[in-house]
Amino acid sequence: MCGIVGSVSTKTNVIPILLDGLKTLEYRGYDSAGLAYIKDGNLIINKVKGRVKDLENHISKESNSNIGIAHTRWATHGKVNETNAHPHNVGKITIVHNGIIENFSKLKHKLEEKGYEFKSESDTEIAAGLLDYYYKKYENIDKAIQKFMKKVDGSYAICMLINDNPNTIYVIKKDSPLIIGKGNNENYIASDVPAILKYTKNYYILEDYEYGKITNNNITIYDKEGNILKKELKEYQGSDLTSDKGIYEHYMLKEIIEQQTTIRKTVNPYINNIKDLLKLPDLTKYERIDIIACGTAMHAGLTAKYLFEQYSNTKCEVFLASEYRYQNNFLNNNVLSIFISQSGETADTLAALKKVKEEKYDTLGIVNVKESSIARALDKVLYTEAGTEIAVASTKAYTSQVALLSVLALSLAYRKKLIKEEKINKILEEFRSITQILTPILEDTITYENIAKEIYEKSDIFYIGRTIDYALAMEGSLKLKEISYIHSEAYAAGELKHGTISLITKDTPVFASATNKYINAKTISNLKEVIARGAKCYLITDEDIKEDNIKVIKIKKVSMFIKPLLTIIPYQLIAYYTAKLKGCDIDKPRNLAKSVTVE
Ligand code: F6R
Repeated sequence: MCGIVGSVSTKTNVIPILLDGLKTLEYRGYDSAGLAYIKDGNLIINKVKGRVKDLENHISKESNSNIGIAHTRWATHGKVNETNAHPHNVGKITIVHNGIIENFSKLKHKLEEKGYEFKSESDTEIAAGLLDYYYKKYENIDKAIQKFMKKVDGSYAICMLINDNPNTIYVIKKDSPLIIGKGNNENYIASDVPAILKYTKNYYILEDYEYGKITNNNITIYDKEGNILKKELKEYQGSDLTSDKGIYEHYMLKEIIEQQTTIRKTVNPYINNIKDLLKLPDLTKYERIDIIACGTAMHAGLTAKYLFEQYSNTKCEVFLASEYRYQNNFLNNNVLSIFISQSGETADTLAALKKVKEEKYDTLGIVNVKESSIARALDKVLYTEAGTEIAVASTKAYTSQVALLSVLALSLAYRKKLIKEEKINKILEEFRSITQILTPILEDTITYENIAKEIYEKSDIFYIGRTIDYALAMEGSLKLKEISYIHSEAYAAGELKHGTISLITKDTPVFASATNKYINAKTISNLKEVIARGAKCYLITDEDIKEDNIKVIKIKKVSMFIKPLLTIIPYQLIAYYTAKLKGCDIDKPRNLAKSVTVE
């Protein structure tokens, strides 16, 4: 989604720093880019519809400045075009903005009544107008920013230049991440730490309703009343900063292969012997576990639901964060709310978390990006060790989430003495061997490529399964549609005949997994129902199933705590090879963003 970079320096030309930062944020998804800088007292703005590379080509080679702000835009208000791209300038104010100004229409009318005219459809231009209006009215930037924060509803990370003060960048923050990097006679601003890591590892995190003034040698951060705050200077602790594709054609493929190590790395502290499971938080006091997340992270929660309920005898509900935040969730002290997020910045998940925190109930999180907004807001966080995930379609982060939730469920079952120690030791042994177990599944490329050839020209594909296999069907279907643009739907296998089976016609592909021995036969019956209507079926299973008209992808028989990690891989790779055959932009699918920081 949108990205922000800013820099102010003593003598360095900051334009390459800005472009470099924007390139680092490119994988998050965007549709236009722009930057603004001040040179000899003049404000210069360059914007393009398209890629950062296009912006780079658009900027004159002689451009040189010690202060500038830059942005990649993922359209929310207004079409994808140059006018709507950031930065937006109104009067003396120029800003780039991440987030959404919810009351922008009301503010726009008020500003128009006062004589302001706007060129774009963007809510950000209104924010610039409002800041300009208050700045002129109070002749004081602190008062203008404080008033702005009182009047604006919505989310914003704003980076601002003022014509009157060509040595300072101003920042304002609410509900959208923003950090200030501290360098040597050079300071930086970014929406995400990786954008500035090439230049500094030290940074301050802005909290909601804080604002700041940054010059080349000074960083001052204020609360909403204008009091100067003493903030902690953080040092980035993450690893895997430089991520290139290596030998792989796409990040997605690289990340799928990396699952051989990322799963193991994530669960490593908890699997060497049975007592290691006690390092995980003790959940025995909770009567119910709620899991709240979006998209793929929510699907990881759905696989865990099965494990918590079946093996740890604990009720588990899974919610989409975007729904959860607006409903009655019947919380009490016996409920633990678990939030899952790769990026740690998803706006809906963060808002749902804040809702639980406001009511003072317990929270636990599973997050990949250290020090992210969600990680910071949680009572307790368990980190997945997936490393940086660049491809928009989540793969290695998902399996790390599933693996961590699995050991959490196992730890709960162990504490409650619901599984024999001998059985737990066997499961832990399987976790320790995960790399070897996954290798043959990852290497079966020919099978996935052949299936891709059979399905890539289809317009509708179905995924079915029961219990944990239904959760996997949802993830398999999402992977296919997001990167190959083929319409697909996931259904509980038994539900298809209640309406959707009318869509099955000759050669409609139907994928299923049957990895739960108690109900596999039922899933096979459902496949037969669709075969009878002409469907072409593909089945991932650990059983010896041989059926006419069903192409079987066999996986190793392992415990239910491990099995989803195996089952999902054929789904990921079939989606990958299908998208490749279709010539899709696999790592950056259309309309999608890696980090969804708006509601
Ligand atoms: C799909 C995908 C998304 C994310 C969702 C939540 O492949 O990646 O569905 O899972 O946007 O993102 P995080 O996990 O960053 O909160």
